[in-house]
Amino acid sequence: MKMYLPLDSAAVALGADEIAAAIAARFPEATLVRNGSRGMVWLEPLLEVEIDGVRHGFGPFETTDIDALAGDLANHPKALGPVDDLPWMQRQTRLTFARVGVIDPLSLEDYRAHGGVTGLERALSMSPAEIVTETTTSGLRGRGGAGFPTGIKWKTVMEAQADQKYIVCNADEGDSGTFADRMLMEGDPFTLIEGMAIAGIATGATKGYVYLRSEYPIAIEVMNKAVAIARQHGLLGASILGSAHAFDMEIRVGAGAYVCGEETSLLNSMEGKRGVVRAKPPLPALEGFMGKPTVVNNVISLATVPVIFERGAKFYQDFGLGRSRGTIPLQIAGNVKHGGLFEIAFGLPLGEIVDDIAGGTASGRPVKAVQVGGPLGAYFPRALFDTPFGYEEFTGKKGLIGHAGLTLFDDQQDMLKMARFAMEFCAIESCGKCTPCRIGSVRGVETVDRIAQGDASAIPLLTDLCETMKDGSLCALGGFTPYPVMSALTHFPDDFATTAQEAAE
Ligand SMILES: Cc1cc2nc3c(=O)[nH]c(=O)nc-3n(C[C@H](O)[C@H](O)[C@H](O)COP(=O)(O)O)c2cc1C
Ligand code: SF4
Repeated sequence: MKMYLPLDSAAVALGADEIAAAIAARFPEATLVRNGSRGMVWLEPLLEVEIDGVRHGFGPFETTDIDALAGDLANHPKALGPVDDLPWMQRQTRLTFARVGVIDPLSLEDYRAHGGVTGLERALSMSPAEIVTETTTSGLRGRGGAGFPTGIKWKTVMEAQADQKYIVCNADEGDSGTFADRMLMEGDPFTLIEGMAIAGIATGATKGYVYLRSEYPIAIEVMNKAVAIARQHGLLGASILGSAHAFDMEIRVGAGAYVCGEETSLLNSMEGKRGVVRAKPPLPALEGFMGKPTVVNNVISLATVPVIFERGAKFYQDFGLGRSRGTIPLQIAGNVKHGGLFEIAFGLPLGEIVDDIAGGTASGRPVKAVQVGGPLGAYFPRALFDTPFGYEEFTGKKGLIGHAGLTLFDDQQDMLKMARFAMEFCAIESCGKCTPCRIGSVRGVETVDRIAQGDASAIPLLTDLCETMKDGSLCALGGFTPYPVMSALTHFPDDFATTAQEAAE
């Protein structure tokens, strides 16, 4: 009997390790693979049993469900049927996450059997300029938040003259409600390594780092093991797959600060300095880690590169909408019925994601708002649910897609409290370098409190403050905090008026 049980943090938090130990004791002859997550978090821990070559799901699985595995599996109380036939899986277009949950994360053999390394081999047959052009043609844009074209960033580093260049993978994943980076690293670490190696070959960088948050111990362990295996098998080292290209990498663990996800703060942190934002210029692409030309890319950006080289830029850019090409791994969280990771081509309307895919709220109450893009993202009301999921489409509605996290709230949520939370978050996480953010966020909390206490005259003050923070902040922490605040105020004015009125009475 062959079974799969995720080593993914969400599954482990729900008892997967205990279940794995109990299965090993009850079925010592069975093979149990610790895979990544399939992304259906509400079904974790999701046990899969291979029956006649088809993987059948059982979940959410508990130790008390183990004995019934010896009986008729079709009638097992937790039986879900073939996992690949579940609607959540059927509706997706899994390109970046194609192998996550499917393979044994640390088996290079499994990785190769599912298309891994093909992209790297193809890249090795191309010149750096051709690799950069292929990446640009794919339309891939940074998945860390800013959506900057990956190929253009690589071109700048490729053309820079220096004795040393670096590839830095941003795995800080600070946005609340996001977990795509973690799931990818835990479930398919070789994809990230392959993507970084291709970036290295393209730009002439011979050294790479993954800046990984300390709150992700499983990802750290998996990545460290995968790097060692990759090195052992010649995917990394002085001669990648026997070629003239050298590239090696290591994992660096960040101590944990939201602002350390901002690329220049991250570089300071990696250099052992305080994690404060650096003024730009110079761009990290020209003067980055240790003052050398550096590519800083998000995990998902880099992990998408192998499939682009495996299947071709044209294949990838055929998916999507407008200037948002390819697929996007949505991370659905909050008060939600079906939360998890769902990869789909850009362009799906927000309402379809919220109502059809996520199935609405866990509380069963109407969805009041969805915050898209993490703590700096805008709150979208139902009136804007026809917005297609794309960079420009969301910017056009005074929002952002960021790292593609969606957090749902039901009709009992007080949006004034969420506006206050946004300002408070900024005040706590501010690196303190610039005044609009450092002081403005503190004044912001006070101003929201005045509104809550019935002072309606503070509303225009809050709007003014948001304008100042937006225009005057050095980075997007202070500059984007106005998005959640202003969207709450604009789309849910009743929460501000009612609170003010109630306090005044
Ligand atoms: C306050 C703040 C936090 C950020 N946190 C992250 C993060 O956790 N992960 C990430 O990839 N990008 C984060 N970014 C964006 C990075 O600065 C940078 O744009 C990104 O790593 C570039 O990679 P990409 O082009 O592949 O998206 C953050 C930006 C800001 C302003
Ligand atoms: S906006 Fe905030 S986090 Fe960004 S540089 Fe200014 S003080 Fe630092």
